[in-house]
Amino acid sequence: MLQGKKILLGVTGGIAAYKAVEVVSRLRKAGAEVRVVMTREATEFVTKLTFREISGNPVAVDMWAPVQHWNVAHIALAEWADAVLVAPATANIIAKAALGVADDMLSTTLLAVTAPVFFAPAMNSNMYAHPATQKNLDILVKRGLHIIPPGTGKLACGAEGPGRLAEPADIVAALEAFFIEGAQLSGIKVLVTAAGTIEPIDPVRYIGNRSSGRMGYALAEEAVARGAEVVLVSGPSALKPPSGLKQFVSVETAAEMREVVLREAETSRIVIKAAAVADYHPKHVSEQKIKKNDEELSIRLEKNPDILKELGQRKRPEQILVGFAAETQNLLQYAREKIEKKNLDFIVANDVTKPGAGFNTTTNTVKIIARDGSIEEVPLMTKREIAKRIFDYVLQKGENRI
Ligand code: CTP
Repeated sequence: MLQGKKILLGVTGGIAAYKAVEVVSRLRKAGAEVRVVMTREATEFVTKLTFREISGNPVAVDMWAPVQHWNVAHIALAEWADAVLVAPATANIIAKAALGVADDMLSTTLLAVTAPVFFAPAMNSNMYAHPATQKNLDILVKRGLHIIPPGTGKLACGAEGPGRLAEPADIVAALEAFFIEGAQLSGIKVLVTAAGTIEPIDPVRYIGNRSSGRMGYALAEEAVARGAEVVLVSGPSALKPPSGLKQFVSVETAAEMREVVLREAETSRIVIKAAAVADYHPKHVSEQKIKKNDEELSIRLEKNPDILKELGQRKRPEQILVGFAAETQNLLQYAREKIEKKNLDFIVANDVTKPGAGFNTTTNTVKIIARDGSIEEVPLMTKREIAKRIFDYVLQKGENRI
């Protein structure tokens, strides 16, 4: 998977810098092209010459060195890279990256990079456990950077604990796994629906629900990360659509969602209906704002079409259809019934009464149920992680159709 990939390696000043030499060698053996940026501190541990020889490319350290190969070196390097790896990543570069400090070649390049970035931390275990370092790593993870966690063992300083740079073979394996996953859904169209629909009562009021859209947006983001062409159809949501989508369609009512979804599903291989579609809409929408003249007010509701059921009826053999079920009781029984009733391949069932689960939370715990009855239990975790687990399971079980 690394054949022809352009990897930019940042080496910072820690004793593990010597291990980065083996990382370069393994990356090249795997077919990657490697360029190295070193901090000045890193050159105290390993010479520029070593990295130049092992990478077969000039090594950048100084922002102000006479430029030989690139126009504006840090920008050119940032644009060149398919992925950036910082190994070893000291507490200092982690802190600088978290803050956006740009005071040398590597930190400046990191600010200009749009490709995926991996940090392999290595430091004394107390420095690693320090709240400042952990907070900075957390910031980087939330920003979408990948952390290759350090191993535990005897450190150069004599201490014992987490902080050893991950083994070079494991670092290279993490990059490989990323590129394999990134190509998994390449060329495959995935349709995701998210958030709740709103059904108007009059020009200023509507019936809505508590769905935030987080689960659907996380699924769309995960599908993009796996290389899919993703169409996200969303009801009103405060969230920013993930970058890299093929198309984002904003809708309000169930009827609007139905129209877009039925059309887009015709050309989609995977359809995931995470939206909380309103089951009913007001039968008559008042043209004027309803005045509070009466002591009681009744609104007559009429059933919305079940979009997922219609998708099930039209499902093509190679299409994978995933529904969601939000239940407050008899979770498995209701979820299984929905698989049958709506002709689904999978249903993701969540008990919305559980703490940390359901609507308007950042976390969830779900059961993914396949048509053959097998169940994957996913414990409480972020919706982004749940999205990953859903794709892992769906792709593993539905592999022959992708
Ligand atoms: N759904 C849909 N169109 C509707 C209602 C629901 O496409 N009009 C989809 C949702 O996107 C979700 C799944 O159906 O994937 C489950 O919806 P849910 O409301 O839990 O199930 P219902 O079939 O409406 O059953 P009940 O109301 O009895 O729980």
